Amino acid sequence: MEFLELYPKIKEYALEHGTPIIMEDSLVYIKKIIEERKIKKILEIGTAIAYSALHFASVSEDVLVDTIERNPEMIMQATKNLEEYDLKKQIKIHPFDALECSLDDFDSEYDLLFIDAAKAQSQRFFERYLPLLKPNALIITDNMNFHNVSVDDENISKNLRNMLKKIQRYHDWLANHPDFTTEFIDLGDGLAITWRK
Ligand SMILES: C[S@@+](CC[C@H](N)C(=O)[O-])C[C@H]1O[C@@H](n2cnc3c(N)ncnc32)[C@H](O)[C@@H]1O
Repeated sequence: MEFLELYPKIKEYALEHGTPIIMEDSLVYIKKIIEERKIKKILEIGTAIAYSALHFASVSEDVLVDTIERNPEMIMQATKNLEEYDLKKQIKIHPFDALECSLDDFDSEYDLLFIDAAKAQSQRFFERYLPLLKPNALIITDNMNFHNVSVDDENISKNLRNMLKKIQRYHDWLANHPDFTTEFIDLGDGLAITWRK
């Protein structure tokens, strides 16, 4: 799929404000999956300013995105962006901490879970939201390579090292899971594509 930047103003805002958003290669890959598998219901953990959610919804008018964000400033900016592009019908922002909110507000038949929030918590998001997915759903996790920073780099902070170790543990947990198959893809910042065996 040829990449068409439908939201250049949002991308510019993200660059100016240092807001982390999905990398172009990963976005192209995920949009292709959404199109080919005719994915209709997406649950995203980590909205930021709704850049990825808007792109996912742009694949088809039938795509619905529920997206969770806990940072009030991000929620405000994301809401503005949805209003500007008139996509409030397709995208719903849930303004909560994804590890604490009630699950009652959500659908229970998602075709795709996209995990793109606090990187040290990806496994907790995976386990918490698994019951809301269809049996043949995909789980996609971003930033599995975390900017290619090595856990052995002596110059990194203790916090970053701990986070990298947690990503590594999540990687190993996925790779050895008895019930799931995961393909690790070196695109963008590293994607894990997971499905039930
Ligand atoms: C990498 S950004 C999301 C980028 C967005 N998916 C995109 O590509 O345009 C991660 C976001 O997750 C949010 N986040 C982190 N932990 C969270 C949690 N426990 N619950 C809800 N949001 C969380 C952060 O506030 C941040 O805005």
